[in-house]
Amino acid sequence: MPRILVTGANRGLGLEFARQYAEDGWSVIAVCRTNEDNRDLKSLAGQHDVTIEICDLSDFEAIDHLASKWMDQPIDVLINNAAVFGPRAKADGDLRQSFGTMDYGLWTDLLRVNMMAPFKLIEAFIENIAVSKEKKIIALSATPGSITETGPGLNAYRTTKAGLNMAMATLAHDLKPREISVAMFCPGWVKTRMGTDAAPLTPETSISGMRTLIAALNLDNTGQFKRYNGEDISW
Ligand SMILES: NC(=O)c1ccc[n+]([C@@H]2O[C@H](COP(=O)([O-])OP(=O)(O)OC[C@H]3O[C@@H](n4cnc5c(N)ncnc54)[C@H](OP(=O)(O)O)[C@@H]3O)[C@@H](O)[C@H]2O)c1
Repeated sequence: MPRILVTGANRGLGLEFARQYAEDGWSVIAVCRTNEDNRDLKSLAGQHDVTIEICDLSDFEAIDHLASKWMDQPIDVLINNAAVFGPRAKADGDLRQSFGTMDYGLWTDLLRVNMMAPFKLIEAFIENIAVSKEKKIIALSATPGSITETGPGLNAYRTTKAGLNMAMATLAHDLKPREISVAMFCPGWVKTRMGTDAAPLTPETSISGMRTLIAALNLDNTGQFKRYNGEDISW
């Protein structure tokens, strides 16, 4: 049975990744920041092969500790899904992540969780991926991280995703000799706590689209940056 590790699995897109793969018979390692706010995931774990692991991804020693628990266990697909958006722009009257009112502590926190933690997780679990059959790494990026498509504001969140893209696109080269493929996906604008109820897409649609892309990922198309529906996104 193939195994997947997904971060931020207690809610939103991470929970939907866990649900769809678990219902298809995959073994799922569902990583959550805390043991709270995960009732739906616990219910899923009661019905399928889902192991809940608690790990705050801003704590890199905790990531190493988690990896040591899974040493020598193959992980076919590693999905770096967890991220924080930070305060929104004018709509919330909170401009702490835009020019003129930047909160640099907040920016540092966002960079750590959204950009550095995915890289750290891959370093920690690379041997698990290397001994698996599928050997695939996914990072949830976002169109707001595209330099070509950028707009005003949200400087902090945008840079975390642009930096994540650079880290992952480089890893695609680094890991190709080990036959490991890497992809960055934008899930679209999806109804989650981050995406809000105003979003047009459901998690079901977004995740099933990305699962099709994951199934098609290989060493020839490694390093891709795509929308959930398969469209290419300019860097
Ligand atoms: N929804 C959208 O429209 C949209 C659009 C573009 C890109 N994305 C990307 O898609 C991914 C998933 O987004 P989402 O909409 O599902 O977001 P979400 O509903 O806000 O969920 C974020 C998840 O990340 C977890 N997380 C945050 N900080 C963490 C930490 N330090 N350690 C471990 N877990 C942590 C959260 O855990 P807690 O519950 O404990 O906080 C939660 O499970 C993100 O990478 C996001 O940037 C989303």
